[in-house]
Amino acid sequence: MAKKSTARLSKTGSVKSAAKRATRSTRVAAERDDERPVLLITAGPTHEPIDAVRYIGNRSSGKLGVALAVAAAECGWKVVLLLGPSAAAVPAHKLVQVLRFVTTDDLAALLKKHQPGADAMVMAAAVADFRLAKAEKAMAAGKIKRTAAGMTLKLESTPDLLAGCSVRRDEEGFQQVLVGFALESEAKLPASAKDKLKRKGVDAVVANELSTMESDSITASVFYADGAVSKTPGKMSKREFGPWLMDIIETLVMEKAIASQHDEEDAACGCAECAG
Ligand code: CTP
Repeated sequence: MAKKSTARLSKTGSVKSAAKRATRSTRVAAERDDERPVLLITAGPTHEPIDAVRYIGNRSSGKLGVALAVAAAECGWKVVLLLGPSAAAVPAHKLVQVLRFVTTDDLAALLKKHQPGADAMVMAAAVADFRLAKAEKAMAAGKIKRTAAGMTLKLESTPDLLAGCSVRRDEEGFQQVLVGFALESEAKLPASAKDKLKRKGVDAVVANELSTMESDSITASVFYADGAVSKTPGKMSKREFGPWLMDIIETLVMEKAIASQHDEEDAACGCAECAG
């Protein structure tokens, strides 16, 4: 079914601009009846405690997620911003709700709660890849003494939250658009982004270079599940990148809505062509 709708969409040729126009009119209507689309964003790092003082975490400022939250609110979206331990300033906006997390488990619980109400999710958080293995957790209680002997920690991988959201979306029948990120050296970016698209079952992956970390600017490519790619016009500030990515997200949301409407129409029709 989904395949047939996609084929029909691409035949219309101008579906992207039609989707954009439709989103804009939805937005205007939403301002009247307050039925705004909801964007769930994760941003910043997770910190996995080693003891009461030390932690394992990735470098991440959270600035990109904050810029996207502001851009989405300015477009009339309701935003739930899940923000990790980050010093990024979040400008107050009546459409942006900020909820804080520290560990991967905290973030997983927030995602479980807020995913059902989201029309789109952008997972910009730099989730730590490893945490103390369960058997070592007792260590986290106090402050481990530094000794000349050093120490060895046994780590386990954290769960892949983005892949988990994709599985939950399929199992629960949610319609939201899922966007992930890939951070890699320039040469490895396209292959890594394409791999993450498939492996994590998402609609798009925003690929950016390692130099983006903790920086105020970004050069990015967006890889879509249908094989298409969009590139930023060179380097842009994260503030400019927010509206640029919002435009893409709005188009993806409308494309999904149109595809789902076609599926419903086909199911209701029941003729041999539609059922095939
Ligand atoms: N991500 C996640 N949960 C994790 C790790 C990553 O949800 N435990 C999400 C990130 O928020 C991001 C995307 O997955 O949107 C890619 O993050 P990255 O760290 O590049 O992914 P990994 O799966 O850890 O890939 P790699 O094998 O390259 O480390």
